[in-house]
Amino acid sequence: MRILVVGGGGREHALTWMCARSGRADVLFAAPGNAGIAEHATIWDIAATDAQALARAVRKHQIDLVIIGPDAALEAGVADACAAAGALVFGPTRAAARIESSKSFAKQLMDDARIPTARWVAGTSADRQSLLDFARARQGKVAVKADGLALGKGVTVCQSVSAAENALASCFDDHRHGPAGDVVIVEELLTGRELSAFAICDGAHARLLPLARDYKRAFDGDQGPNTGGMGSYCPPMGVAADALIDSVTADIITPCLTALRERGTPFRGCLYAGLMLTAAGPRVLEFNARFGDPEAQVLMPLIESSQLFDLVIAAARGELEADGRVTACAAGVTVVAACRDYPASATYGAEIDLPSELPESAVIFQAGTTRDGDGTLRTSGGRVLAVSATGADLAAARSSAYDIIARVRFDGMRYRHDIAAP
Ligand code: AMP
Ligand code: GLY
Repeated sequence: MRILVVGGGGREHALTWMCARSGRADVLFAAPGNAGIAEHATIWDIAATDAQALARAVRKHQIDLVIIGPDAALEAGVADACAAAGALVFGPTRAAARIESSKSFAKQLMDDARIPTARWVAGTSADRQSLLDFARARQGKVAVKADGLALGKGVTVCQSVSAAENALASCFDDHRHGPAGDVVIVEELLTGRELSAFAICDGAHARLLPLARDYKRAFDGDQGPNTGGMGSYCPPMGVAADALIDSVTADIITPCLTALRERGTPFRGCLYAGLMLTAAGPRVLEFNARFGDPEAQVLMPLIESSQLFDLVIAAARGELEADGRVTACAAGVTVVAACRDYPASATYGAEIDLPSELPESAVIFQAGTTRDGDGTLRTSGGRVLAVSATGADLAAARSSAYDIIARVRFDGMRYRHDIAAP
């Protein structure tokens, strides 16, 4: 089987690694890839969002299966273009990916399908007064969200009316998120633990992967700005994961798949529900149309690669046939190494020193990396790499991940020290 992985971050390294390890891939390609992905796949110098160029390459190289990582590629119609070029595609069409690319679409769908989520209003700058009234009625304790894709930076959690006013002004007056912020959602704040749920979907059925926890803030103790994610672990502490997965399937994933199918846009790919476990039960904070990053890096080593690959293919073919769940074989911890100023900026060109040997139970997934002509590995992005380690329990996985990351070096390297801390 000839496979193309679209994207070039840590998530896509994990996906490519899974394909290589499954034994099912004869030839692997990636676009645009990174230095880590290049160890498993032939790299095409094509942007992840260049749907037409990707479709041409898919045809030329007779690709059987395309696996799409980033939301921006889905939004750019890469799934549609590659399917039209004759490949099986794991990743939803642009229309089905609206579940991620438009928060107001997602919220309306959730209300229509009775999927539990925070109460909300949406509007443009003309509706500023009613948006503010909603915030005032809640003493300003609201989340203000740009409707469109905003690189994970579109949400402002507010604790006062003036903070909510400022968040609206930054969307409507300063156009901080560009056109993605022309429509804004204001929703009530929920409290509880956050968890990420991932479902491999074929349009009708879903196989739930193990639940993972993600750390979005830049610094220890959940301080600092929101990032794409600084670390992850699985299984989540303090929850009865199996029972929760079954209720998430029944109350959240299946109704979402049904609603998308009824709208004529069946969802094939990884449906990711960002959940808040409130006192009243799980609530959806957001849906995404792809794997999480870095959750993919923690999950891939915990699931048998051939089993996951077979599910991905079955989903792309529309042949999953039944709902169910996939179990993890151990506990896993992923710690992201970022450059000093991430998420504000990225650094380029710092030499990266990796440990010469890793235990079998660990892997380094690269994200912002390139290799020089002379073979030197260098940084080329904000999140540079992630160490993923598995162990019999979280404590073992955690100590292994931190032992290894302490042996990774590049100028300006920074990571959180409290991933999976008890
Ligand atoms: P999102 O991109 O919608 O997942 O939001 C990013 C982060 O903002 C989430 O991981 C939460 O920590 C926080 N957040 C979003 N919506 C809410 C909400 N309704 N209540 C509390 N926190 C929220
Ligand atoms: N880790 C959060 C995300 O991928 O959106």
